[in-house]
Amino acid sequence: VRLLQDKKDLKGKKILITAGPTREAIDPVRYITNHSSGKMGYAIAERALDRGAEVLLISGPTNLKAPVGVNKIDVNTTNEMYEAVLKSFEWADVVIKSAAVADYRPAMVAENKIKKDDNDFSIKLVRNPDILKELGKRKKDNKILVGFAAETQNLFHNAKNKIQNKNLDFIVANDLTKEGAGFKSDTNIVTIIDKNGQTKHYEKMPKIDLAEIILDKVKSLLIEE
Ligand code: CTP
Ligand code: CA
Repeated sequence: VRLLQDKKDLKGKKILITAGPTREAIDPVRYITNHSSGKMGYAIAERALDRGAEVLLISGPTNLKAPVGVNKIDVNTTNEMYEAVLKSFEWADVVIKSAAVADYRPAMVAENKIKKDDNDFSIKLVRNPDILKELGKRKKDNKILVGFAAETQNLFHNAKNKIQNKNLDFIVANDLTKEGAGFKSDTNIVTIIDKNGQTKHYEKMPKIDLAEIILDKVKSLLIEE
């Protein structure tokens, strides 16, 4: 049960959150995507709003409803998300990139439905832009950048590399091999690692509670400035 008198400790802060998967068309009826439900990002949006922040949620296709009071922009592809996020980057004090972004897209989108024949079939994929890496390049000292990492192996090593490569303040690393972690679930099991190497592991908990912890960490960094 949540307290009715929420603290408004993020009042005046502008928080941009991305959530959900992205979707890359192959032809008019088919696409490439991933298992992201969007639950983590929507939970962060809900808590940030309750704590007084102005919230912009840039979301790939999900079955979720954004809380009333959250500004929402719907996108499909990684390129669309890239455009939308860059447009609002200046505005934001904090960016939390929980979206599971498609790293590749089909080199061409077929205009008509692709018909099968007796041969095997392959699709050439080309790289999508790395949205968070681009934000990291443009980041100035006073902005806070939070990434997520979905890993099935070498969690610490990979997550630490992502902090460096993308110039993040901290990363929320999901161990996808654990039951109760990751995409579809209402719970998550994560390790939060910050740019100074400070590492904290959290046991399985509801995504809404993890959202609170992530925002507490953001809040502590805002105070440090
Ligand atoms: N991300 C992004 N744009 C991409 C790919 C990822 O902004 N094209 C962001 C995600 O939203 C997430 C973070 O980068 O916050 C890490 O995503 P992840 O898929 O774990 O890492 P990648 O850098 O894509 O590396 P890989 O998939 O090879 O592990
Ligand atoms: Ca990726």
